[in-house]
Amino acid sequence: MKLIFLGPPGAGKGTLAALVAGLYSIPHISTGEIFRAAIREKTPLGLKVQAIIDAGQLVSDDITIELVRERLAKDDAKNGFILDGFPRTIPQAEALASIVKIDSAVNFDISDKDVVERLSGRRVCKTCSQNYHVSFMKPKVEGKCDKCGGELFIREDDKIESITKRLEVYRSQTAPLIDHYKKIDKLTDIDARPASGVILESFKELFPLR
Ligand code: AP5
Repeated sequence: MKLIFLGPPGAGKGTLAALVAGLYSIPHISTGEIFRAAIREKTPLGLKVQAIIDAGQLVSDDITIELVRERLAKDDAKNGFILDGFPRTIPQAEALASIVKIDSAVNFDISDKDVVERLSGRRVCKTCSQNYHVSFMKPKVEGKCDKCGGELFIREDDKIESITKRLEVYRSQTAPLIDHYKKIDKLTDIDARPASGVILESFKELFPLR
């Protein structure tokens, strides 16, 4: 199964992708997570993209497409993958089509109000990147990761100015991909408002495990 997860920031793409990747044994490839790992490790790529990401802007198509091309060439992506957060522009979608044929683009349907609530309450583990939410997905011990005990922090791009910018960028550059995939009959809409367990059940009905 070769899928794209498409939707506004904070729609729950990463949360569902992690559940689906485990269940369907396919890799979860998040361009945002690849960039954040590069920033944490202070690699040349990380130093180049940090200010762009913190401000809620998009990294250039050239850099992002090359990174995805290299990632999809790895053995574990041969039989399937979830691309979370890529493509985000029409040129990225065109480049992807020249690399691999996808089965579907899953479009996460959610309001701006819900997005702001989810992003402003998100907490992330500094060590293993597991996501939490102060109301919807609380850790057992406040400020600590359930999985590894790491410290939870607020992503720089989850500050309100950056959330507003990310929503603007989503509307102008990424939302046109909904029509793009609809036109080529590859779009699958999913209601992203319920709890993640409910969304997973809808996903399993749309894409049954074989
Ligand atoms: P990226 O990491 O892709 O950020 P994003 O698309 O903005 O997505 P998020 O990670 O913010 O949200 P999500 O939809 O995964 O939601 P999550 O599951 O975490 O990209 C970051 C940056 O990298 C971009 O801004 C850009 O600069 C750069 N970048 C990345 N890809 C790029 C590309 N292709 N081209 C150019 N630049 C690129 O959930 C959010 C919160 O809600 C969490 O707290 C979670 O616990 C909670 N939650 C999740 N699901 C539910 C639910 N069902 N009910 C209640 N709460 C929920």
